[in-house]
Amino acid sequence: MSTPDQTNSDFITVAKVGAIPEGEGQSFQVGDRLVAVFLKDGQYFAIDDLCPHMGASLGAGYLDDEGVVTCPWHAWRFCVRNGKWADNPRLAVDTFEVRIEGDGIQVRLTRADESGRDKDTLSD
Ligand code: FES
Repeated sequence: MSTPDQTNSDFITVAKVGAIPEGEGQSFQVGDRLVAVFLKDGQYFAIDDLCPHMGASLGAGYLDDEGVVTCPWHAWRFCVRNGKWADNPRLAVDTFEVRIEGDGIQVRLTRADESGRDKDTLSD
C-alpha cells in the first residue's frame, strides 16, 4: 500500500500516472479511508478498498475484462465503475472521483454518489 501526497484541494494525489498497470488496481490510504484505484481501458476508477464481507483489500483483487473486481478472499465481485456488488446490485461499496492532474492520479474523498447519484451502500 502507498501513502499519498496531501494537497490543499479536495483531490489528493495518490500516485504518478503509470504507477498502476492497465487492468490492475492498487490500494492507497487517503485521509481516513483505504481506497482502491483501478486502471481499466485507460480510465481510472476508485472504490472503497475494504470488501464489505470481511475486509479484504479489493485493490489486490483480479479485475476482469468487464471492469469487475473479484475479492481475493472469498470472490465477492464489485464493478469498479459504480461500486455495485455483481451478485446483488442493490448494494454497493463507495466510489470516489478520480482525475489526472499533471502526472498525478488524484482521488477526491467525497463519495461520488454524494454528487447526486442514488444508490444503497453497505457502509452507510
Ligand atoms: S472478504 Fe471479500 S469476499 Fe470475503
